[in-house]
Amino acid sequence: MEQTALKQLASRLSLEEKVGQLVQVTPDFFGNQGEITGPLRQGADQQKLYQIGSVLGTHRAQEVQQIQETYLANSRHKIPLLFMADVIHGYETIFPIPLALASSFDSELIQKVARSSAVEATKEGIHVTFSPMADYVKDPRWGRVLESNGEDVRLSTELTKAYVRGYQGNDLKDETSLAACVKHFIGYGAAEGGRDYNTVDLSDIELYQNYLPAFEGAISEGVRLVMTSFNSIHGVPVTANKTLIQTVLRGKLGFEGILISDWAAIAELKDHRVAENSREAAKKAFEASVDIDMMTDCYSQELADLVEETESMEALDAAVWRVLQLKNELGLFENPYRGMKTTVDKKELNEVAYEAATRSAVLLKNEQVLPLKKEERILVVGTKATSTDVLGAWSWIGDCHAAVSLAEGMKKEFPHLTILSVAEETVEWSAIEEAARQADKVVIAVGETSEEAGEAASRTDLRLREIEQTLIDRVFKHNTNSILLTFSGRPLVLTEVEPKVKAIISAWFLGSQTGSVLSALLSGAQNFSGHLPMSYPRSVGQLPYSYQEMSTGRPKTSENADQKYISRYLDEENGPLYAFGHGLSYSQFTYSALELSAKQLQKNGQLTLSVTIKNDSKQAGYALPQIYFQDEFTEVIRPKRELLAWQQVNLQPGEKQMVQFVIEPDDLAYVHSNLRRTTDPGAFRLFLGTSAVDILSETKITFVG
Ligand code: GLC
Repeated sequence: MEQTALKQLASRLSLEEKVGQLVQVTPDFFGNQGEITGPLRQGADQQKLYQIGSVLGTHRAQEVQQIQETYLANSRHKIPLLFMADVIHGYETIFPIPLALASSFDSELIQKVARSSAVEATKEGIHVTFSPMADYVKDPRWGRVLESNGEDVRLSTELTKAYVRGYQGNDLKDETSLAACVKHFIGYGAAEGGRDYNTVDLSDIELYQNYLPAFEGAISEGVRLVMTSFNSIHGVPVTANKTLIQTVLRGKLGFEGILISDWAAIAELKDHRVAENSREAAKKAFEASVDIDMMTDCYSQELADLVEETESMEALDAAVWRVLQLKNELGLFENPYRGMKTTVDKKELNEVAYEAATRSAVLLKNEQVLPLKKEERILVVGTKATSTDVLGAWSWIGDCHAAVSLAEGMKKEFPHLTILSVAEETVEWSAIEEAARQADKVVIAVGETSEEAGEAASRTDLRLREIEQTLIDRVFKHNTNSILLTFSGRPLVLTEVEPKVKAIISAWFLGSQTGSVLSALLSGAQNFSGHLPMSYPRSVGQLPYSYQEMSTGRPKTSENADQKYISRYLDEENGPLYAFGHGLSYSQFTYSALELSAKQLQKNGQLTLSVTIKNDSKQAGYALPQIYFQDEFTEVIRPKRELLAWQQVNLQPGEKQMVQFVIEPDDLAYVHSNLRRTTDPGAFRLFLGTSAVDILSETKITFVG
């Protein structure tokens, strides 16, 4: 629709109809079942139903068709509804959870997964996805690390940008494009105690340094919506935080798109006790420029009067305009049923799901026990051995019963396979021990159910279940050639079981192709290439933890470990069991020392780091050279080591390749006490590593400034 026509349409809306465009409800208000992803409160009342602006949580195109037809038949101005959904890691073809996808360290792969998700979701009539989740995380007690890109701000920013590119494509008029909604603005991952929905208290330096960049990245890629988070910042719930939103999101970041509340977050301002009633809640949210009220009646009941009372029609018109603009950009006025006639190549989607799962599994330990040989007698045993609960939380309409379990996948590759599922009520230890004795190798499959990770799934104990630890102990007594394979939406605490197994694989939740992929990885038909985007702690007592340990006044070093007055625990090491960036392969790689194109980095200049990598093995594989750096002396404390660059390098057997990283002054910047991100002149240490702790070589440069 032409802009003038759209402006004329907007001018014809009554006050009530304008407010209606800012209200979002679930499909049940239209008599359809849908996805309920939060506590049910009163949404819009029925008589205002044909004025609302959007619906969230539909499953199939025919629901969208039926709701849209009914709505248009009953609405005065025939403004089509927007349909939104949580397309987090796939729609029906389910990809690995985002934390698993982040293990690929591969932006192109992420973009491909997002594109594939968009094709399937738009076919079912969805226009907007509540993704990417850009929360910075350091605490795996918080179940939503499952949806994040992990603990490094640079990795998270690059992957967040890739999701937006994949979902939105080059033109939202393309009916396979999904408008993206980056979330949760901001700080949600810092919930105290790792307990979901708990209080957050962050310094501005930390907020600007680690929490904002992924949102800046999404906005630089043209993300169309931002979702407010449930938590407070500076003591004010974000959904009512006018200063934060106006100064930072709309001001500093220049976001001009739609701001949508999280589920019921406006009404929950009353639970935060910063609003006495719905009117005050609506007032605070609207003044903070929250455009869409997700699933409460605050706007639908209160906003019209508020706008009249406070003479804020201009602000209302601006919010409505943002919603109408998005509808127009998506082509909904020309085709309210966009996307439904596109074609989806399910075979291609499954191939992408297979590739993504292969790139997301992480081999944490392997003492010459993998790959398995086809002629070996293999026992697969555990709580997850035959489970198809492998999709993980937020797997929309993915059908886990259609997913391939580990055992099903292995049956195709291993002729001498014994499969024993383990459940509390039916476990037969003697049978398991006998089977372990008879086997050449034992694959122990354990871990979380999809209910135990994700939203509202915080945990204080990240160890395996009692029965799973007992299983490992009992197998260990009879067969030391065991491989521990964990399914989880977060890093687990494996410290106690690690010595009792010869290999460990983090299978996260890998999606629809889980069993086929894991079987291929176990047999060596496929090679591991995943690396940890989040540290595996030794104990929950270390949390929150990130590899970016800041310099302190009494650091523990290799020289002073026997001293008393240093920063350490009496009962645990400081470092993680497995570090950020760690991941093994069946291939063996050798790396040259880091070479520099220059020792000095000039202002507005750049320099190149080079490293040559050789695949010394007989198996093709990906190497992931990681460049870390340390700014030697800084105005505010900075990490001892932070990720600067990385690259997945696919090498054939015997192949050698030079990899180059171009460094510019801005790459070395940090947020100073004035909240500006700038680079100090001075010395920088550069490290080549295969993880945040496995450093192969080091060099030094000086930024002249
Ligand atoms: C949920 C989540 C949010 C999701 C929204 C809609 O409570 O916090 O991530 O997108 O509601 O389902």
